[in-house]
Amino acid sequence: MSREIKIAPSILSADFAKLGAEVEAIDAAGCDYVHIDVMDGHFVPNLTFGPPIIQCIRPCTTKIFDVHLMINPAQPYLKDYADAGADIITVHAEADPHLDRSLQLIQSLGKKAGVSLNPGTSESAIEYVLDKLDLILVMSVNPGFGGQSFIPAQLEKIRRLRQMIGDRPIDLEVDGGVNVDTLKDVVDAGANVLVAGSAVFKGDDYGATIGALRDAAE
Ligand code: DX5
Ligand code: ZN
Repeated sequence: MSREIKIAPSILSADFAKLGAEVEAIDAAGCDYVHIDVMDGHFVPNLTFGPPIIQCIRPCTTKIFDVHLMINPAQPYLKDYADAGADIITVHAEADPHLDRSLQLIQSLGKKAGVSLNPGTSESAIEYVLDKLDLILVMSVNPGFGGQSFIPAQLEKIRRLRQMIGDRPIDLEVDGGVNVDTLKDVVDAGANVLVAGSAVFKGDDYGATIGALRDAAE
């Protein structure tokens, strides 16, 4: 089953001094999701923001807030992210020994539940929670920073996950090093949600970049 292409700019590469205006700008530029990278300086070697800042930017757009939690533990904070305005909450398989319980909790909060896999993690990590998932996020760089190079070995993982998903209504998202050059292979491998941080925010014309990414994907 092919699912609709979604473009998800990551505000990790936005200008934090004017974050609300940046969110409004990517909304006006035609993004589908706003990808929000939450980092704890423990699970990944960088720190970003948490629920209060997500709550502050929530009124800036009605687009889907796609919250990527790179935090360990995540489970005690899931309700805070739901209350702050997340629509999709994604936890890392490597950071959660009780993945099944976290997914149930996210869905019980009325939110879509995602699992992310680091480049070194096998697709088998999600085999037994597939029926509880709304989204799988394949990291195509080691998480922590924007602007890194796409790791080509992840294409095989994307293909395998697309097979595993079959007819289930699960989105397959790819995050890290996605730009107009790498995106075609990612889509051909079976991904339909495309995160792009530096590719979108490094230029002045966000609309042109989002349009070019969408054209390359479709
Ligand atoms: C990395 C983050 C990504 C990052 C992608 O840990 O999860 O969302 O912002 O940035 P680019 O698109 O620049 O690789
Ligand atoms: Zn991310």
